[in-house]
Amino acid sequence: MTAQSPVVVVTGGTRGIGHGLARAFLDRGCRVALCGRTADAVREAVVRLDAPPDRLIGRPADVTDRVQLAALWEAALDSFGTVDVWINNAGAVTARRPVWELTEDEVGVVVDANLMGVTNGSAACGTWRASARTVACCPASARTAPPRAPSPT
Ligand SMILES: NC(=O)c1ccc[n+]([C@@H]2O[C@H](COP(=O)([O-])OP(=O)(O)OC[C@H]3O[C@@H](n4cnc5c(N)ncnc54)[C@H](OP(=O)(O)O)[C@@H]3O)[C@@H](O)[C@H]2O)c1
Repeated sequence: MTAQSPVVVVTGGTRGIGHGLARAFLDRGCRVALCGRTADAVREAVVRLDAPPDRLIGRPADVTDRVQLAALWEAALDSFGTVDVWINNAGAVTARRPVWELTEDEVGVVVDANLMGVTNGSAACGTWRASARTVACCPASARTAPPRAPSPT
């Protein structure tokens, strides 16, 4: 792989669709950064993907916390020098029960991950930082950021 390989950040890359995305991007020569909520889950996911550290990094980050996502962004930049695509994949679903049987806490977990998580992820790779294309897997927003503004020197 060359240093020019596209860099893709996948939130929620420890399992499910996000893990499949991470594997597919690695198979296609991309460099990948992924996150999940716990260090153990991230470590296990990285081991399963079996890629060298110059192609794959994992960091624990909860998408409901913008500061943790900013740290994921910085980790990807530190490791790879750029971010080309940021995928807001991490999300949660409620148990399949009528809404009136769900507690506010159960609904809150979904809203926090799927709505605030996407918002936080898009903020973490804000328009002034990069030309990263931002994609949401959750039923929320998706957008393409404008070209990167010059960084202050
Ligand atoms: N599967 C479907 O049919 C379907 C349909 C439409 C949309 N979607 C959306 O697609 C996305 C992936 O779905 P999936 O079926 O692959 O889900 P999944 O198997 O439950 O995986 C969810 C992933 O998100 C991570 N995650 C959850 N909450 C998080 C948080 N607060 N911070 C960081 N990571 C978090 C999980 O990591 P940890 O548990 O390790 O933290 C895991 O890696 C979700 O946003 C879902 O809403 C799925």
